[in-house]
Amino acid sequence: MGLLSSIFGKKEKKVDNSSNVNGVRYKEDLIEGILLEDHKELFKIYGEILEQLDRNDFSGVYENLDEFKSQLNMHIYIENTQLYTYIKNYFNEDASQLKFIEQVQNDMDGIADAVSNFIEKWIDLEISSDNKEEFKKELEGIGKVLTKRTKMEEARLYTLYQK
Ligand SMILES: [Fe+2]
Repeated sequence: MGLLSSIFGKKEKKVDNSSNVNGVRYKEDLIEGILLEDHKELFKIYGEILEQLDRNDFSGVYENLDEFKSQLNMHIYIENTQLYTYIKNYFNEDASQLKFIEQVQNDMDGIADAVSNFIEKWIDLEISSDNKEEFKKELEGIGKVLTKRTKMEEARLYTLYQK
């Protein structure tokens, strides 16, 4: 299945109301097939950047930073339009779940901004052998935040996505 059709889903002939909360369709493979795979892909790119840094392949680092940024943005877009929309509707009468969902969605906006600022900063500074240790330290900081975040999503947030 192509990326777009896997994101937006194909029209199904049968209408199943139990899997449709206020017009947002439940997608069987959203967590396992898309969001968890995205997390793996993001950490794969992160690992590649560290390796490229070790061998002073700075153009490779920039290519992967760009890739990382677009994959992360796409991931956040899918979470916002498919995951959060659905679970907010699903739990619309459960104030404490809703509070949690909105809080973690806001936190993610902050993390995405931090990643974006980090990448923009290092595009301006230009990574070289002189400053690569400083870059690496900041990158590892981003890696730590994202590790903690994805663990929380996988253990708590994604389990709220149910029929
Ligand atoms: Fe995520």
